Amino acid sequence: MTTSRTALVLGLIAISSVIAPSAPAEDDVVALRQADMKAMSDAAKTISDMFRAPESYSSTEFRRAADVIVDRSGSVLAGHFADGMGDPRSKAKPDIVQERNRFDRLADDLRNYALALDAAGEANPGPMTERMRMKPGEPMGGGPLGIHVRSEAELSSIPAEHVFHLMLQTCTTCHAAFRIHR
Ligand code: HEC
Repeated sequence: MTTSRTALVLGLIAISSVIAPSAPAEDDVVALRQADMKAMSDAAKTISDMFRAPESYSSTEFRRAADVIVDRSGSVLAGHFADGMGDPRSKAKPDIVQERNRFDRLADDLRNYALALDAAGEANPGPMTERMRMKPGEPMGGGPLGIHVRSEAELSSIPAEHVFHLMLQTCTTCHAAFRIHR
């Protein structure tokens, strides 16, 4: 190979490694948590679309989306914020360090809601049922502080659509408290 061709090939490899979406390095918590957040956002969109167009509901796809959130919340999420607060790429507020318990509780709430959604998908293998839908006039709030995770039994007794809204409130509550908005 001539020198110029070698240079060309090496140049292409360098370019493709910039373009190719590569998985974040295992110890790059900032990239990991941002990738997880994006995946959870896509999963929430999938679920939201099914509630908007119930005929598109698939138990398998619904559960797959819920599981994306189950796998990235709780201690996994909390662990990805053990470090990297001052990283210039990050929009995480340093308050996470001082308010660790509150942050971790929100991460756990998120997981509990996602688990309840997974269970609802399992319990409704056919078309989306009325049981899964929010009833007109059903109170939407999660208590004065916005968030209120109930017992697992209580969670399973409220419609999946309501659980989904409580879950989204958890995203919003955590972002309002712990994510820098620029
Ligand atoms: C316990 C707190 C917490 C919860 C719960 C949470 N997030 Fe986040 N999220 C954050 C923080 C903090 C950041 C900023 C991370 C960073 O830049 O280092 C963030 C960033 C993001 C981003 C931007 C990622 C990027 O590429 O910069 C998206 C999208 C996102 N979250 C979606 C969601 C969705 C959807 C949910 C709920 C299903 C959710 N988050 C739940 C704390 C949370």
